[in-house]
Amino acid sequence: MAAVHPSRTHEWWRDAVIYQVYPRSFADGDGDGTGDLAGVRANLPYLRQLGVDAVWFTPWYLSPLVDGGYDVADYRTIDPAFGTLDDAEKLIAEAAEHGIKVIVDIVPNHVSDQHAWFRAALAAGPGSPERERFHFRPGRGEHGELPPNNWPSQFSGDTWTRVPDGEWYLHLFTPEQPDLNWNHPDVRREHEDVLRFWFERGVAGVRIDSAALLTKHPDLPDFTEGADAHPYIDQDEIHDIYRSWRAIADAYDGVFVGEVWLPDSERFARYLRPDELHTAFNFNFLACPWDPDSLRRTIDDTLAEHAPVHAPATWVLCNHDVTRTATRYGREDTGFDFAKKRFGTPTDPELGTRRARAAALLTLALPGSVYLYQGEELGLPEADIPRDRIQDPMHFRSGGTDPGRDGCRVPLPWKAEAPSFGFGTPPGTEPWLPQPADWARYAVDRQSADADSMLTLYRTALGLRRTHPGLGDGPMRWLPAGDGVLAFAREHGLICVVNLSPAPVELPAHSALLLTSGPLDPAGTLPPDTAAWLQA
Ligand code: NOJ
Repeated sequence: MAAVHPSRTHEWWRDAVIYQVYPRSFADGDGDGTGDLAGVRANLPYLRQLGVDAVWFTPWYLSPLVDGGYDVADYRTIDPAFGTLDDAEKLIAEAAEHGIKVIVDIVPNHVSDQHAWFRAALAAGPGSPERERFHFRPGRGEHGELPPNNWPSQFSGDTWTRVPDGEWYLHLFTPEQPDLNWNHPDVRREHEDVLRFWFERGVAGVRIDSAALLTKHPDLPDFTEGADAHPYIDQDEIHDIYRSWRAIADAYDGVFVGEVWLPDSERFARYLRPDELHTAFNFNFLACPWDPDSLRRTIDDTLAEHAPVHAPATWVLCNHDVTRTATRYGREDTGFDFAKKRFGTPTDPELGTRRARAAALLTLALPGSVYLYQGEELGLPEADIPRDRIQDPMHFRSGGTDPGRDGCRVPLPWKAEAPSFGFGTPPGTEPWLPQPADWARYAVDRQSADADSMLTLYRTALGLRRTHPGLGDGPMRWLPAGDGVLAFAREHGLICVVNLSPAPVELPAHSALLLTSGPLDPAGTLPPDTAAWLQA
């Protein structure tokens, strides 16, 4: 049967710009040092003016916040640090009044060790039905003193923890995040109910955390380096889960975006079949170095892998897990590698910012949807967090060799001259992570008044993206260009040119210069690390 190409007109998610809010660090409405839903509600006009279509909230549920909220104790309750369920409902409704849709983050692979199910499992003991919702096993070795298998963690460190009665439980992340057993009917039923719970409250979509990890090989065999099959990543059975989730989403006209880190593009595309997830994050683009050939190859591969399943590509430069774009692009090695240690790698801030501006225009001109991480529109760099203020478990689990992810999670600067740069935390109370002393220059108020700021660039680019019919979903075609130059055409005469070469280049013929990421040379040529949008 021939695949039917879905209508592009009403499927907003095919070319949406989605802004990621990390609630702890967006705006502090009650002045306790932590961002909250009141802070988001007060700043919805900012998001509308920026021109985004939707907001994705990283987890806002009840949580001990061991892993920034990705350790959920109750999926139906908002953590008191962020507000109440009533606040969330009001926020969803008010965002809709501003024309902004809401995407929530569901964490199905694991729960917090404070979740009622895990507490019950610990209390009930070995062999109990309560333990079957998780992966509890006896240990290996004469006295069960060795973990049940050798699985590597998604963070560094162990994947098994022993409880006082001698059994071990599996956690791919921290010990405070026990993995659920997705072969258990309760686990499936509960998550389907949680999805309905949030769709009933008017959310437009769900981001699925660690989406390729849910199902484990039933025998929990040892991991073998270099083996074809991995015992817990991308098991075939996982697709049954997403097929049943899709039916639920369809009933509410809701959409999914999966956090799927898979190097194999054919396996990746399976998650995007028409009866599974609508979209998944394109991390290859994020990990790609600032290099013309790698970027072109990544863009081509991305579009090629999405085409057979008719799913739109997503484009992501940054999120709450990776080094901020402006810092990454200022480094000699501009790619991103999770395994790479991030301490002390020197960066050239001016170069990084220039490239981040060019990357913004490149990204926003590609076909598909775009994710924008809070603070990216301000050009924030990665902050150096003093060691005694680091909170991220990734840092501690690496034995202190990895600085972790706090440097990209610092509270936003809103007002150059205000305490906590207008984040909302009053004098006498500290924001949960320290803001660098020189961040006044990145503040929203200062950038709003500056025609050359990163914020103005994003506002202008997002405005054009809304009005120019060539931007967003649809085809693209590479144009002939010199060495180190990426040039492509979209429909309706839109041309994007990015100069990644070390020398200025001539612009292709055009009738109008729509936007550039930096000033052109006096001769009208495009300088290195600069991008332009042209009308043919
Ligand atoms: C991916 C999330 O983005 C990250 O922040 C979190 O630590 C892990 N999943 C575990 O939930």
